Amino acid sequence: MSFEERYAEYLGMIEPALGGYFGRKEGLPFDGLLESMDYSLTAGGKRLRPALVLEFCRVCGGDVEAALPVACAVEMLHTYSLIHDDLPCMDNDDLRRGKPTNHKVYGECTAVLAGDALQAEAFGTILRSELPAERRAACAEHLANAAGVDGICGGQFMDMLAEHPEDEAWLSDLQGRKTGSLLSAACAMGAAAAGAGEDRTELALRYGAALGAAFQIRDDMLDVLSTEAELGKPIGSDAEEGKLTFMSLYGEEKCAGMVEQLTQLAVELAGELGSDFLAQLAIRLSDRRN
Ligand code: IPE
Ligand code: IPE
Ligand code: MG
Ligand code: MG
Ligand code: MG
Repeated sequence: MSFEERYAEYLGMIEPALGGYFGRKEGLPFDGLLESMDYSLTAGGKRLRPALVLEFCRVCGGDVEAALPVACAVEMLHTYSLIHDDLPCMDNDDLRRGKPTNHKVYGECTAVLAGDALQAEAFGTILRSELPAERRAACAEHLANAAGVDGICGGQFMDMLAEHPEDEAWLSDLQGRKTGSLLSAACAMGAAAAGAGEDRTELALRYGAALGAAFQIRDDMLDVLSTEAELGKPIGSDAEEGKLTFMSLYGEEKCAGMVEQLTQLAVELAGELGSDFLAQLAIRLSDRRN
């Protein structure tokens, strides 16, 4: 099966499943909250993290259908992080996935609550799945590691600090937490859903870390080099907020070289895992336009 066919197959599972979780339910006093959660969750996006869950499950010999709730859970957590990232107190952005950001449509209060609820529902979705209990626990632990102080929240806190060192070690640590952690967790959760052992889990985490580092450097490049229409989110947001990024630190040429090197590493790890899909994915993400 080609890369395109496999990605299309995964999207064909992920999109309808995501659409079935929330949305306005007449008569409930909090139906407006459900609507706002559904608005951001079904707004599109690449669905990279759930696709990684499904592919790692497949490569580790698991039942891909059984891993679908885990895949949806990662996308819920990712979507929460985007809703909060766009808030006026954080990056203050008006456009996400080609649509007005959650707080622009529903107001800041609802956007905060939609994020909070999506985060809790992510864990609930894993714990309510039909996977064996120890696999559910392993998936939830990987997700908790990626969401907490060692992951997104710690990284986003560092990202918001006005005073900080302007060096590569600091920035790599920050980006590894805010972005790499969830991509790594998605890979490890796919492996965990298949009941994979330590060796494969370790490889999954290493592939995710290499992919994640390349992914965020590319994201920093696109914030400067792309267009709003192509990206579906504002450009120039990082400079406007005075962010330290790999682009502000090193410029386009060095960033492109770093992305290439990290992609090469991801491709090698994909080879060890025996997945041509994962190799192709890393290559395509390295010169993505959105
Ligand atoms: C955006 O993630 C946030 C970052 C970690 C850079 P994606 O680029 O995966 O966003 P969607 O899910 O496709 O909208
Ligand atoms: C945010 O990084 C990563 C998250 C944890 C949401 P960015 O702030 O660069 O993501 P975009 O560019 O707004 O998608
Ligand atoms: Mg941000
Ligand atoms: Mg942002
Ligand atoms: Mg960005």
